[in-house]
Amino acid sequence: MIVGGPNLRRLVCAKLVQSLSGSGEAEKINEMRGLDRRFSIAPMMEWTDRHCRFFHRLLTRRALIYTEMITTGAVLHGERARLLAHDPAEHPVALQLGGCDPQQLGECARIAEEFGYDEVNLNVGCPSDRVQVGRFGACLMAEPALVGDCVAAMTSAVKLPVTVKCRLGIDDQDPEEALEAFACAVEQAGVAALIVHARKAWLDGLSPRQNRDVPPLDYARVYRLKAAHPSLDIVLNGGIADIDQALNHLGRLDGVMMGRAAYQDPWRLLAVDPVLFGEPVPFASPKAAAEALIPYIERELTRGTRLNAMTRHMLGLFRGIPGARAFRRHLATEASKPAASVAAFRAALALVVDVDAQMAHSAAA
Ligand SMILES: Cc1cc2nc3c(=O)[nH]c(=O)nc-3n(C[C@H](O)[C@H](O)[C@H](O)COP(=O)(O)O)c2cc1C
Repeated sequence: MIVGGPNLRRLVCAKLVQSLSGSGEAEKINEMRGLDRRFSIAPMMEWTDRHCRFFHRLLTRRALIYTEMITTGAVLHGERARLLAHDPAEHPVALQLGGCDPQQLGECARIAEEFGYDEVNLNVGCPSDRVQVGRFGACLMAEPALVGDCVAAMTSAVKLPVTVKCRLGIDDQDPEEALEAFACAVEQAGVAALIVHARKAWLDGLSPRQNRDVPPLDYARVYRLKAAHPSLDIVLNGGIADIDQALNHLGRLDGVMMGRAAYQDPWRLLAVDPVLFGEPVPFASPKAAAEALIPYIERELTRGTRLNAMTRHMLGLFRGIPGARAFRRHLATEASKPAASVAAFRAALALVVDVDAQMAHSAAA
């Protein structure tokens, strides 16, 4: 372990990367950096809440998982304890912040550290009108110096790794120039990793949803960024559909981040530990993982959480398995009833045919 504060650690790690590059020691370097970023699950508003994260953690022990974006205003002035609550089982878990004020971001990073998060991430990718009004999210691609100041304020406030999630550029920016200027600014400010959603954001004329599909993906631009910044950890996001594709990108980049494919088909996550990390699968089948969630569901129900708030994240778990549709239908009618109990979940599960780990794996690959 390298001691001596985040900046010294980063410098030593950068030197190590240079001296070890090509010798296949990336894993050790990641360990020294403290977090393994080879596979992460994207921050997704309304989706990656604490129930979703707990569920995903059952399916993979090794993925780095992200919260939904929480604005600095909400952290500083909102219901902080509720917004930042997470279960100890979620680790490693990163808090994603939305904001553009260096001082406020520094303070929020400090609060994230106090709450026990493993990483704090700044959102420079969200294209919604609401965040544009607040001058944060994707529109910050046009202000690399300000983002550098934000990152510097965050890194000096905490020991936690500070990361940024960005786009290739916005509107009519040239992705070659815009992404290069942006990467230089955050690298100099001490960012621990840059996560790049490999498409531009169009702030004028496209909805947030269209902005996830319409601007074309350009993975080659991200590969060129890595070649130009060999000691900066670069994680690729956008359109990664399965674990095979993830594995391919890992040959060229430090990590991959999967969003919709992980959420909509969570069974894929069972392949992450064995295929990407060479470790045992956490559960032999999707059904075994779902059964393991029952104690959590019971605990949360006694705290007043509605059954549907937890089960809504599981609708794709059994895709392709006999009984999957009956499972979804049962939950759709039963889990949203105000008094729905764990019995409704057990009954839905009983409709699904169990399959062994082999089937889950071959489907995932
Ligand atoms: C429902 C939804 C909510 C999202 N919310 C956020 C968010 O809070 N912060 C963020 O950085 N990206 C957010 N995104 C974008 C994803 O993190 C990711 O960049 C995008 O979906 C592309 O990755 P994918 O093709 O693997 O899904 C969201 C995406 C979806 C589908």
